[in-house]
Amino acid sequence: MSDINFEHMTEYAKQFAGLTPEREEILKSLAPVIVPRLSKITDAFYGTLSTIKEASPFLEGRIDVLKQTHLRWLTSLFSGTYDSEYTKAMHRVGDVHVKVKLPVEFMAGGTTLIGDLLLADLDELFRDDPKARTDAVGAVNAILGFSLIIMQQSFQDSSLHAELEKFLKITGMSRALFNNLAAAYR
Ligand code: HEM
Repeated sequence: MSDINFEHMTEYAKQFAGLTPEREEILKSLAPVIVPRLSKITDAFYGTLSTIKEASPFLEGRIDVLKQTHLRWLTSLFSGTYDSEYTKAMHRVGDVHVKVKLPVEFMAGGTTLIGDLLLADLDELFRDDPKARTDAVGAVNAILGFSLIIMQQSFQDSSLHAELEKFLKITGMSRALFNNLAAAYR
């Protein structure tokens, strides 16, 4: 949907997720140590997903392609740039999941699984530096929460859109009239 204010969505999601400029810097600084581990994390993610009965219909015949797109997304978490373009891209990822009719809880479920895997690696990497470990965990938690908020927004937008379509069909009201009325009551 083209009328989405991605700048506002970005600021809003950053506030909730605690994605501060300091944490954005930390994520960028983690890239050299964490990116080489992301392929193994992706394999583990799909390994666990495959054991979930409800997930298998969405994975059949697609795992290799999904692993590639997933690895690209995981790498982007450590790019250090989380502006409205990043938000737009995450919203599009949400839209793709809406289109394939993925249940909404798969978004939170998937994010939790990835969080678990990333935290285990951070634990290993920063075993001797508790402060660095806490900072890294906080930053990773923030970008995962941020991404989840945006992806779930797609599901919300799509369900509002479906409700509106239903309303227009039931009442016979044109979209132009609805838009005019909505603008008047803003
Ligand atoms: C943290 C959660 C997740 C993230 C960040 C994520 C990321 C992605 C990305 C980047 C794409 C490609 C979007 C594009 O075409 O531009 C995608 C597609 C897809 N994902 Fe996910 N995903 C997540 C969870 C899941 C889960 C839990 C499942 C299913 C068990 C799943 C199944 C799919 C499917 C079926 C597609 C579409 C593939 C196609 O085009 O045929 N995703 N996902």
